[in-house]
Amino acid sequence: MAFSKRIKKLASLVDSNAYVIDVGCDHALLDIYLTLYNNNKCLAVDINENALKSAYENIKKYKLNIEVKQSNGLDNIDVPNNSVCVIAGMGTNLILDILSNEKTEKINTLIIQTNKDYKALRDTMIKKGYFIVDELAFLDKKIWYVIIKFKKGHVKYKRIETILGPVLLKKYDNETVNYFKSEYDKYCKVLSNIPKKYVFKRFKIKYIINKIKIYIKNVGPSL
Ligand SMILES: C[S@@+](CC[C@H](N)C(=O)[O-])C[C@H]1O[C@@H](n2cnc3c(N)ncnc32)[C@H](O)[C@@H]1O
Repeated sequence: MAFSKRIKKLASLVDSNAYVIDVGCDHALLDIYLTLYNNNKCLAVDINENALKSAYENIKKYKLNIEVKQSNGLDNIDVPNNSVCVIAGMGTNLILDILSNEKTEKINTLIIQTNKDYKALRDTMIKKGYFIVDELAFLDKKIWYVIIKFKKGHVKYKRIETILGPVLLKKYDNETVNYFKSEYDKYCKVLSNIPKKYVFKRFKIKYIINKIKIYIKNVGPSL
């Protein structure tokens, strides 16, 4: 089975040997990868029966010992203290809804991959008593992805860090720089679509664009 770059990047943030609850496992590809290559014990969870059937089939193919459970988020799950939980490939609202369950308190490490609304995600998790230990931005099959790893603890962040990512803003590898270049283009496009009369809205976007410019200038070539 071929594992996508996205699955491998998710796995790279999971501490080896940890007990992992994968909420919204779908075909259980991440669980299979983690069991094979990262020495994790995984619980694959999904709300959808067909997804779970496919997860069973895949796990059977590899003859692996991965527990599979049907649940709406954490509802039917026993969450041991200090668990690692992965939630990937869902919208931020759904993810935050899943994490509104009181059992979230027992989760020590959360690895989340959503496709937008990163500020809302970071702000809510910070309010819940988590801080950001790592972030990855990468391109897979022509789509930019961001994965954020949270752990229990308190750190103060600047507003711009919750928008662009406190860890990403300190990374200067090629892929992160290219991510910020694509974010620069995205925000410039957003700005060009805001009529001049919306002064404050434009100001907020210009502020983000300037911060990305500063980041890219720190790398070397100017925009
Ligand atoms: C797009 S797939 C992502 C699969 C996998 N996590 C990945 O990143 O490749 C989203 C999965 O989340 C499941 N899902 C959606 N809402 C859920 C919920 N409330 N609880 C558990 N699973 C859910 C869906 O059934 C689907 O299998």
